[in-house]
Amino acid sequence: MSDHQGVPVRALPVAEGLLLRPFEEADLPALIEAHRDETLRHFTRRPVDDAESASRWLARQREGWAAGSRYSYAVLDAAVPDTAGAELLGNVALKCGPLPSVAEVGYWTAAPARGRGVAPRAVEVLTAWAFETFAASGLERIDLLHQVDNEASCRVAEKCGYRFEEVLSALPPDYPLDGHRHARKRLDAPQHRRPE
Ligand SMILES: CC(C)(COP(=O)(O)OP(=O)(O)OC[C@H]1O[C@@H](n2cnc3c(N)ncnc32)[C@H](O)[C@@H]1OP(=O)(O)O)[C@@H](O)C(=O)NCCC(=O)NCCS
Repeated sequence: MSDHQGVPVRALPVAEGLLLRPFEEADLPALIEAHRDETLRHFTRRPVDDAESASRWLARQREGWAAGSRYSYAVLDAAVPDTAGAELLGNVALKCGPLPSVAEVGYWTAAPARGRGVAPRAVEVLTAWAFETFAASGLERIDLLHQVDNEASCRVAEKCGYRFEEVLSALPPDYPLDGHRHARKRLDAPQHRRPE
C-alpha cells in the first residue's frame, strides 16, 4: 500500500493533444504489437509477449492502481473521438514507492509514433497531474531513470524539465549499464519545453 492511494480510475483531462486513460482489454492487441519492437524490448524489464502475458500485465496495472503504487495510462491521440478505436501511441506511468515524497515516471512510445514528441507531452501531462493530485499526501519529487545508452529517453527528460541529478551504477542483470537519474520537483518553476 502507498500513501498515494484512492485515486478514481478515470481518464485525465485532455492536454498537449493527448488523451491519457487507464488501459482497457481492447488495448491488449496493440500492447502486444508495441512490444514486438526490439528497442522497446531492450529497455523494458518484463516485455509482453502474447495474450496471456498481456492479461497478466493488465491485471498488474489494475492492482497497482488499487494499491496506489502504480498509475499507468494508455496514451492516445485526442483528435480521434472514439477512444476504443484510437491507435495506442504509448504508455506513461507514475510509480509510487514507500516514500510518499518521491515517485518515479516511466514511459514508452510505440515505434511508429516515435519522433513526434508523444513521450514528452505525456510525461508533462502526468507530471502536472501527479503534483496536483498528490501534493496533499506529500509528493515533492518525481524521478526519471534511464540507462546511459538510452539517448532518446535522456532527451525526453531534458524536454520535460527533468534535470540531470546523478549517475547511477549498473545493477546487473536487470540494469547492465550505468544510468542517469533526472528529477523534477513540485516547486520547480513551470516548464517551458523547447519546441519539438
Ligand atoms: C524514449 C522514447 C519513449 C521517446 O519517445 P518519443 O515519443 O519518440 O519522444 P520524442 O519524439 O521526444 O523523441 C525523443 C528522441 O528520440 C529520437 N527520435 C526521434 N525520432 C525518432 C524515431 N522516429 N525513432 C526513434 N527515435 C527517434 C531523437 O533523439 C529524439 O530527440 P530529439 O527530439 O532531440 O531529436 C521512445 O524512443 C521509446 O519508446 N523507446 C523505447 C522504450 C524506452 O526507452 N522507454 C524509456 C525507458 S527509460
